[in-house]
Amino acid sequence: MIIEPRIRGFICLTAHPEGCKQNVVNQINYVKSKGAINGPKKVLVIGASTGFGLASRITSAFGAGAATIGVYFEKPPAEGKTASPGWYNTAAFEAEAQKAGLYAKSINGDAFSDEIKQKTMDLIKADLGTVDLVIYSLASPRRTHPKTGVVYNSALKPIGQTFTNKTVNFHTGVVSEISITPASEEDITNTIAVMGGEDWAMWIEALKGANLLSPGATTVAYSYIGPALTEPVYRKGTIGRAKDDLEATAFTIADSLKDINGQAYVSVNKALVTQASSAIPVIPLYISLLYKVMKEEGIHEGCIEQMQRLFQTRLFAGSAIPTDEKGRIRIDDWEMREDVQAKVAALWEQSTTESLPEIGDLAGYKADFMNLFGFDVAGVDYQADANEMVQVPGLV
Ligand code: NAI
Ligand code: NA
Repeated sequence: MIIEPRIRGFICLTAHPEGCKQNVVNQINYVKSKGAINGPKKVLVIGASTGFGLASRITSAFGAGAATIGVYFEKPPAEGKTASPGWYNTAAFEAEAQKAGLYAKSINGDAFSDEIKQKTMDLIKADLGTVDLVIYSLASPRRTHPKTGVVYNSALKPIGQTFTNKTVNFHTGVVSEISITPASEEDITNTIAVMGGEDWAMWIEALKGANLLSPGATTVAYSYIGPALTEPVYRKGTIGRAKDDLEATAFTIADSLKDINGQAYVSVNKALVTQASSAIPVIPLYISLLYKVMKEEGIHEGCIEQMQRLFQTRLFAGSAIPTDEKGRIRIDDWEMREDVQAKVAALWEQSTTESLPEIGDLAGYKADFMNLFGFDVAGVDYQADANEMVQVPGLV
């Protein structure tokens, strides 16, 4: 069928299989162009279908030649109804992996549940024996706790006081002021329960308990810091509390892996347009200014450039992994450069509905957003009949 974008707020209800495929092929080609990485050989990626997780999977497979298992939560297609983008991304990734002779299988379901953890462990045991890298890249608005059944919904709110600042509706380009009321204690607890470290620790404990981690195995989860501008709604808000918890969990996991010589890290990544980040107020305006500055400086990166650099120059560079004073890997180093942040802060002051198309990269933001769903991708014929029923070859 002919598939068109149907946008509702922060999401697009449709996805284009050919556009998603082209995005994946472009990412694979990028990784190949950067040369081989002396990296992991058997990799589990939790949150493998979009964003940083997908880019981590592509880098593992096509950079290091790794066998990969991906876990994700995506909507399969139905006659006349498209799948969600991560479904098509995975279908394309696995088809390319098979062509290249690389093992690739996946599990579609709730990674927070005991059932999906068990299913994943059974697959590792049967096919790979152990894994030497576990990437934890979930971004979810809710979590059902596997032991208590309690459903937690995360919030994106400031803590202590109302936060008022500018934001942009990236579809219309209208810059307006937004006020976000402070979180309740419950909002904080809930957000930590969803996006904090508990589930990451549960995964590693389960994998280790079943002897499915190779000696010297590494696990990495992703965090964000960002500038003072977004601090009230991000790093010092509810989501920031969850990231604090995630970062603290890296140390407890590292301790638990000592006897197998394993390691646990958090990598702080760059702000990028993903389904997760588009939903956070204020962030889209920041990203559109950041993109403008970083593109002008020639240091702009997408998810794949970030993850390729993380693997090649940090995790698997063959030397001690450089970290900041809090033990975190910093691949947000170019975003956080003083000159970059000074320019963004100055542009922030000037940004209005009228000035943004000129001083910011609103077009780049929109293009990236459309690309997430496989639309507006160069080289794809959107007038042609597309097969929405594409299947994931290695789905277990
Ligand atoms: P994303 O929305 O592109 O990817 C989320 C992944 O999690 C998808 O594969 C999705 O299928 C999977 N997922 C969600 N709920 C699930 C569930 N219940 N069970 C199984 N899979 C599930 O998000 P993105 O942006 O790649 O985020 C990944 C991590 O990177 C998050 O921790 C995020 O905070 C972090 N990060 C994001 C930044 C950004 O600007 N986008 C910047 C720095 C860090
Ligand atoms: Na991801």
